[in-house]
Amino acid sequence: MQIITTKQELLRQVEACKQQSKTIGFVPTMGALHEGHASLVRRAVSENNVCFVSVFVNPTQFNNKEDLAKYPRDLNRDAKLLESLGAQYVFAPTPEEMYSAEEMNTTFSYDFEGLDQVMEGKMRPGHFNGVVQVVSRLFYLVQPDKAYFGEKDYQQLAIIHQMVERSALKGTFGDLQIIGCPIVRAESGLALSSRNERLSEAEKETATNIYKTLKESVKWAKNASVSEVEQRVVDTINAIEGLEVEYYEIVDQTTLLPAKDFSHAIGCVTVYCGPVRLIDNMKY
Ligand code: PAF
Repeated sequence: MQIITTKQELLRQVEACKQQSKTIGFVPTMGALHEGHASLVRRAVSENNVCFVSVFVNPTQFNNKEDLAKYPRDLNRDAKLLESLGAQYVFAPTPEEMYSAEEMNTTFSYDFEGLDQVMEGKMRPGHFNGVVQVVSRLFYLVQPDKAYFGEKDYQQLAIIHQMVERSALKGTFGDLQIIGCPIVRAESGLALSSRNERLSEAEKETATNIYKTLKESVKWAKNASVSEVEQRVVDTINAIEGLEVEYYEIVDQTTLLPAKDFSHAIGCVTVYCGPVRLIDNMKY
């Protein structure tokens, strides 16, 4: 496995793969890899001739400086895992390699057609601008045939689908397919996340109530309206000491607009467990 740190070298390797007509699978990550990432990499390895993984804590998508500073980083550990999974190339640039000073200090402008006005977009202004900025740049560089994203970050996945699909950009990334992959959970039900590293064992136990409640809510949905289920999820989670819901919204799986009923609906939740912000979701 090769670790690449410059765009120039990355382009050279990508070009060599293209010349040999190798299909490229790509998994963008911010490192601190866990079994959720591993599931994406395994799939990318099995469905393509070569697999590229990026490990880059993207500063432009953090609207909270403390969150950026505390984001766990361990490239050696990540590289060992990626090698064991069969990835061929890891792209791990510095922020200076990815962005000019001006880009680092201005918000990337992008028209989300409303997809950023709800949930994570509403709570973390500018977050998705940074995500689209880095993901589009990575797509231009890696030129993948397939790119893999976890469904835990459901709104991110919907926005990236839209970015690749929208007519103005159609064809820009070739025939790139965006593949959404299921959430990977600990045995306890807790959705795997790099942020879980910041939870104590007791907090991890408390946080399992998030998934338990979401699962219960599927039963509640049989005899209640969308707003009743939303309220019951919020009340149930907030009643647990150590958890505080930031939002729970049941929305259409494609448009992310508030759902009128449960067909094609997904509930997305953000919960603070102590200082750690956790997200999860449940399809109805
Ligand atoms: O989901 C993530 O880890 C990040 O948002 C991504 C897609 C790698 C962009 O930095």
